[in-house]
Amino acid sequence: MSTAPGYQSPTVTVSTGLPKRGIGAAVLIVPVVTGDDDRARVVPNPFLDAEAVGEIEVALKALGAKGGSDQTSRLVIPALPVASVLAVGLGKSRDEWSGDAIRRAAGVAARALSGVEHVVTTLSELDVAATVEGLILGAYRFTDYRSTKTAPKEPGLAKITVLSTAKGAKADAVRGTDVATAVATARDLVNTPPSHLFPDEFAKRARALGESVGLQVEVLDEKALEKGGYGGIVGVGKGSTRPPRLVRLTHKGGKGRKPKKVALVGKGITFDTGGISIKPAANMHHMTSDMGGAAAVIATVVLAAKQGLPIDVVATVPMAENMPSASAQRPGDVLTQYGGITVEVLNTDAEGRLILADAIVRACEDGPDYLIETSTLTGAQTVALGARTPGVMGNDEFRDRVAALSQAVGENGWAMPLPDELKDDLKSTVADLANVSGSRYAGMLVAGVYLREFVAEGVQWAHIDVAAPAYNTGGPWGYTGKGGTGVPTRTMFAVLEDIAKNG
Ligand code: BES
Ligand code: MN
Ligand code: ZN
Repeated sequence: MSTAPGYQSPTVTVSTGLPKRGIGAAVLIVPVVTGDDDRARVVPNPFLDAEAVGEIEVALKALGAKGGSDQTSRLVIPALPVASVLAVGLGKSRDEWSGDAIRRAAGVAARALSGVEHVVTTLSELDVAATVEGLILGAYRFTDYRSTKTAPKEPGLAKITVLSTAKGAKADAVRGTDVATAVATARDLVNTPPSHLFPDEFAKRARALGESVGLQVEVLDEKALEKGGYGGIVGVGKGSTRPPRLVRLTHKGGKGRKPKKVALVGKGITFDTGGISIKPAANMHHMTSDMGGAAAVIATVVLAAKQGLPIDVVATVPMAENMPSASAQRPGDVLTQYGGITVEVLNTDAEGRLILADAIVRACEDGPDYLIETSTLTGAQTVALGARTPGVMGNDEFRDRVAALSQAVGENGWAMPLPDELKDDLKSTVADLANVSGSRYAGMLVAGVYLREFVAEGVQWAHIDVAAPAYNTGGPWGYTGKGGTGVPTRTMFAVLEDIAKNG
């Protein structure tokens, strides 16, 4: 048994054939495609004989199933040693599917099988890691704060048997399990209500997660932040009775003389009321997700350590609660960011950039080659790109690399510009900068332009705005349920892997 803190994933095993025994209660997940005659056909695989395939296709025909993507049919197939079969559609037949098509099909299947304890699948013959990720994430649920009155009676997914004849299947299954565990860890943190997750508690959980995989952990409390000159974090945090923190988690995986160093920074506002520039009441509870960037960054550095990535990764995570009170900062206050730049706080609801600027300057002191920062930064992200498309900004080359990798893993980040002229909108009459522009234009980009002021020369930098993508307020889809999504954990891990491989 694992004693790791936080999310416990189902057990995943790889088998090269359909087990003969011990799977009687399991459900077999089988991918199907739409044939030329518009009928569902089983995707060819080495695990099912002609009789089983025939029975499945006859049953699907009787149901009128077409194999369209996201469609599922539950079947009883006497020729197979399982309780039932779940056919999951992949749409039109292809030579190859994207990882995310497989991940989505697995997620749809897992959601259709809510309450089933053991699944076996041939979907993994197409992509082991994507199948494992989709199954675990589709089956994810958050029940920490349900009493026995409403807690689910059925146990949920505990065991996954993936069938694969591929050479690296075992390693891929471990990798998929680790990646999904990281995403689920980020989701857990986002889904933990603000009553229970406040800066000190968040820092404790980050420490426990970090120590469980051997990371170096450093936590600055409010006194250390004050003394250290972290004016942004202190300013935002001072309206709350629950003081701010800065957490640093270090993975030293780099080998050789000059290993690549990557800095990660994530926004950790455990609740954002807006402060004195208070938000409207409608949907304010969504602001429990305002630490989604921090959650993803913590999950990513823990994953990097677990997977033993041969690079150095340091996560710098500012945590604060943005509250209105007699001790809160006021619109018009001036604070000094870590490193010395002064800022006029014209709107206390533009608090993310204030805590991030401190963290970015601190992160750059380590001399990283790359810096990835992510945050639920602006409502303007949602206006520009919608609920499922993170905005990626930064140095052109690195930004495009991050966006491309985000597309590849199905988190679908999209490159956005940082026009120089927007900096003029951040002029202040009393300080070096104002924290908001006087204009309604391009709010997501203005926030990016603000952050750019704090990134050290020569550091390849990307900023990922996940305001809406970090938190699903709509219905479940693919492998994403309601609430915390864990985005952009898989994007950041893909970037780390790419840097480890290609520099
Ligand atoms: N946390 C919010 C951004 C946000 C909005 C995240 C909706 C998730 C969903 C952020 O701190 C904020 O309040 N931003 C302001 C900035 C404005 C005052 C310049 C916004 O977007 O309105
Ligand atoms: Mn805000
Ligand atoms: Zn915020």
